[in-house]
Amino acid sequence: MSQTISTANAPVAPYTRITVRPMCAAAGAVIGGVDLSRPLDGETVAEIRRAFLDHCVIVFRDQDLDPARQIAFTEHFGKVEGHPLYRTPDIAEFPDVIVLEHKAGKFYKGKNKLWHSDVTVSETPPLGSVLHCRACWEGFADTMFANQYLAYEALSDAMRGFLEGLTAEHSGALNQTLNNADPINARIETIPDPVVHPVVRTHPETGRRALFVNPGFTYRIRELTNEESANLLAFLYDHAVQHQFIYRHRWRPGDVAMFDNRCLMHSVVQDHPHDMHRLMHRTTAAGDRPYL
Ligand code: OGA
Ligand code: MN
Repeated sequence: MSQTISTANAPVAPYTRITVRPMCAAAGAVIGGVDLSRPLDGETVAEIRRAFLDHCVIVFRDQDLDPARQIAFTEHFGKVEGHPLYRTPDIAEFPDVIVLEHKAGKFYKGKNKLWHSDVTVSETPPLGSVLHCRACWEGFADTMFANQYLAYEALSDAMRGFLEGLTAEHSGALNQTLNNADPINARIETIPDPVVHPVVRTHPETGRRALFVNPGFTYRIRELTNEESANLLAFLYDHAVQHQFIYRHRWRPGDVAMFDNRCLMHSVVQDHPHDMHRLMHRTTAAGDRPYL
């Protein structure tokens, strides 16, 4: 039995269908005893969902999911949806499977190195995504996840109270600029209108509050002057990604990682050699409209 780390949000009820090994205090747990390529019974799904809420990122090792099975697994969390900005018909029969590929001759500069939550330019940003690693070089292009419950809880009462009165505009403009600067990407021709979200959101399943601004999409806080907004966002972005809030996932081929987009930011470490092959299949579960 491996050593486990006790975490503040460790479950009280035991798990009977799966094993759950927390990876660090911030987030992340490796789930054992499950073959995701087979149908899952209701109790197993309930335990997986509980582990997901407790640890924000859950990882299954040594899986081999075809797109249909990956979609079926993702549907345990929510309706599977494609990406509103990128049209990637990479797998003809499965347009909702987003293929992220880096290989020799196709150096993926990676907009995803920027800390972000996925698609917060949507009125209803994703609940979370499943990333299935089909190929990688272990130890390169790790993905980091920053726990935004902990970031919020580490602020003073006064700062929390101030932030709770604020809302922010989120836009796809930066994403479009970064994307279109590199001809290797399919151009993003149109982006949706900006949307407004609370700066602090209440997680609809856990009831915990989390910071909900991100450098990928948030561009201003509406109630402040431009200067106040820029400075406050800069502070929050620094604050939100301190070491103690971060789980860094080192990918292995066969990993399936599901992350909670409602209480995390994430960022890909861009340290990979030009000829590295990294192939990820991403499926995304739809989420709700954020509220305080
Ligand atoms: C994304 C993303 C992470 C990764 O697809 O939005 O951030 O590890 N991907 O490729
Ligand atoms: Mn992302």
